[in-house]
Amino acid sequence: MIVELPPLPHPLTDAPETSFTLSSSYYTDPGLFELEKEKIFYRSWQYVAPCQSFAVPGDYVVVDICSQSVFVILGDDLELRAFYNVCRHRAHELLQGQGNVASAIVCPYHAWTYKKDGALRHARNTADLAGFRLEDYGLKSIQLEEFVGCVFVNLDPKAERLADTVADLETDIRSRVPFLDDLRVPMANTFGPTEIEAGWKVVVDNYVECYHCEPAHPDFASLICMDDYQMETFGLWSRQTGPQIRHKNSAYDVNPDQGYQGALFWYLWPNTTFNILPGADEMNVSAVRPRSLTRSSFEGHTLSVGNKQNTARSTYTAEVLVLEDVYLCESVQRGLKSHGYDQGRIVADKRLSGISEHALHHFHRLVYQTLQTTSHPS
Ligand code: FES
Ligand SMILES: [Fe+2]
Repeated sequence: MIVELPPLPHPLTDAPETSFTLSSSYYTDPGLFELEKEKIFYRSWQYVAPCQSFAVPGDYVVVDICSQSVFVILGDDLELRAFYNVCRHRAHELLQGQGNVASAIVCPYHAWTYKKDGALRHARNTADLAGFRLEDYGLKSIQLEEFVGCVFVNLDPKAERLADTVADLETDIRSRVPFLDDLRVPMANTFGPTEIEAGWKVVVDNYVECYHCEPAHPDFASLICMDDYQMETFGLWSRQTGPQIRHKNSAYDVNPDQGYQGALFWYLWPNTTFNILPGADEMNVSAVRPRSLTRSSFEGHTLSVGNKQNTARSTYTAEVLVLEDVYLCESVQRGLKSHGYDQGRIVADKRLSGISEHALHHFHRLVYQTLQTTSHPS
């Protein structure tokens, strides 16, 4: 693993207006990705699924956190628990995807059998094994927390609770989303995964700025008025608001009497997003999951009040908006390898307008500070 961070030929200053971006090595150096795993992804809160995905005992969801497979499962006592998805015998993975284990978790390799609370219940042919005790081989548990109706996990046993580190985010979401507690997981609830040939930071960079919205998302910019678009940064999160919309536009028509009438996007360090587009009481919660240094996937769930999906809206999102962003990100990832590029300039204005890149700067500072320290950014 590298010890020293790549150089920043031009500084990432405190003030966004004078700052440069992270340099390209931060996006292309394999050693840096190893450092990101250790310092960012194995220590931060990672989105898994809405709480409602766990309705009956045995319901489980598997997620991959930078090659650490983990799962969340609802116990017979209705407690949610999270474990590393690996058998304590000889390391076969236990569960795949999402589903329900009716009675117990049975390893597909040699059939060691675990209870839903992680305890090893049965291991074949071990009755006479010297010094072997079932209780020494329970699944390794990890931290779990419910936050704004969603399940998050953290591989760091010492991690501070999410509700304590970003209490202001919960307050902010609750104050702006009156229908939050009415959101349900509809059938076909999964969004993505959208596989992207670009690293996770390229995808987050693109998410936390709307400087690109007018040139690169003409339909989006015809739907959301960019004049009063706003972007604000807080400790470990940032928020974009588009309060004014045009009901007739080239993205999809919005019925003035139906659903939320604005746009809201929250970014939560390091890789979670909460997304509300106009025209339906729906919220999408997604994570940008690193797959490798230069690949990631965008995946999550769309929650809805009632079961009605606004089809025109979801078609526009999946077939236009997301694809536009994927092409942008993939081009940038290729460009970051170019000998003709090493570091960019943050384009932020003093008004902190909707097209200012101050939330991008905020993200780069979080990355830089976290890679430099051994503790969490604050
Ligand atoms: S690896 Fe799971 S039972 Fe052998
Ligand atoms: Fe975009």
